[in-house]
Amino acid sequence: MGATGGIIERYRQYLPVTARTPLVAMGEGNTPMVLSRSIGPELGCKALYFKLEGCNPTGSFKDRGMAMAIAKALEKGAKRIICASTGNTSASAAAYGARYELRCIVLVPAGAGEVAVGKLAQAMAYGARVIAVKGSFDAALRLVREASARLDIELVNSVNPNRIEGQKTGAFEIVDDLGDSPDLLCIPVGNAGNITAYWKGFKEYWQVAKARNLPRMMGFQAEGAAPIVRGEPVELPVTIASAIRIGNPASWKPALVARDESNGMIEAVSDDQIIDAYLRLARSEGVFCEPASAASVAGLMKLPSLGVPLAGKTVVCIITGNGLKDPSTAERRARVDFEFVEPVLDRVEALIGAPVTRI
Ligand code: F0G
Repeated sequence: MGATGGIIERYRQYLPVTARTPLVAMGEGNTPMVLSRSIGPELGCKALYFKLEGCNPTGSFKDRGMAMAIAKALEKGAKRIICASTGNTSASAAAYGARYELRCIVLVPAGAGEVAVGKLAQAMAYGARVIAVKGSFDAALRLVREASARLDIELVNSVNPNRIEGQKTGAFEIVDDLGDSPDLLCIPVGNAGNITAYWKGFKEYWQVAKARNLPRMMGFQAEGAAPIVRGEPVELPVTIASAIRIGNPASWKPALVARDESNGMIEAVSDDQIIDAYLRLARSEGVFCEPASAASVAGLMKLPSLGVPLAGKTVVCIITGNGLKDPSTAERRARVDFEFVEPVLDRVEALIGAPVTRI
């Protein structure tokens, strides 16, 4: 693999790569699978892994699909790309757009707290044109779908099938690492592209006998933004997990197929459960993710109460984005006050000198 090697080079035989497809890459994919030391043993899992998609170049899983979408856009001579986003897609599109000289336009929902500050800062630093739509993500997505058709601008949301193609490589990596599919895959669901992509990847590897088994796909939406769980669009979705604050997912139908074909579930988790999982991941596993990503772990922790046995199971939770994307949630929710001290050793010792009895 090249120095900047990525998913296209590694998995080109499974991707829509032709002789004319540029090998777009900046080190996306090949993300760590970290074994849980606390949550997994407590739940009785045989093994629980966190797949750290926040280790991708722009800090989220979007880079897998974006690499593929950008490669195909370049192949057909596109000059401009456009997307709607709750933040991560825009950061990823902006980065690849900058690197491969495509003008990038992003439409984000305008309301306060709709998009985490780290993501907006990224998109702007990469030089994207950021347009705030006075409406929801769903309205922004509707607009970019129409605009891309009318103005001949390449749409790089996950309704672009090349995004799904790239993102399915996450499933390939899991099977390559474990030697087979896990029993359960836990994943947050927003616009529902990623659950669709993972299921496609697992099935394709199974069809070519790279995997003997298929996982149960366990998708989790935030309670206030759970259209698939409720069975109807949500007009005004609300959740602290802004990345998945989506009321009418574009890949709704394929997500249902993934759920049903895999004998899986799509369930809701509350904001309190998301924050509990978010802090638990940071404090007992050393994994700092964004709130939407913690929905996968919140969901896993809820499974026993839904009658899903975890004893002896191998489970993978997709940790979709890096915690630094959304620093204000940690600042507000961690509720740890600074302690101040005079610059004198005796004073510091008075604070921290007591022997540690338990960590
Ligand atoms: N986790 C994170 C961190 C996300 O940014 C997203 C989606 C999801 C999970 C859900 O994935 O939409 O494929 O079901 N973010 C999109 C965006 C909507 O615009 O960045 P999904």
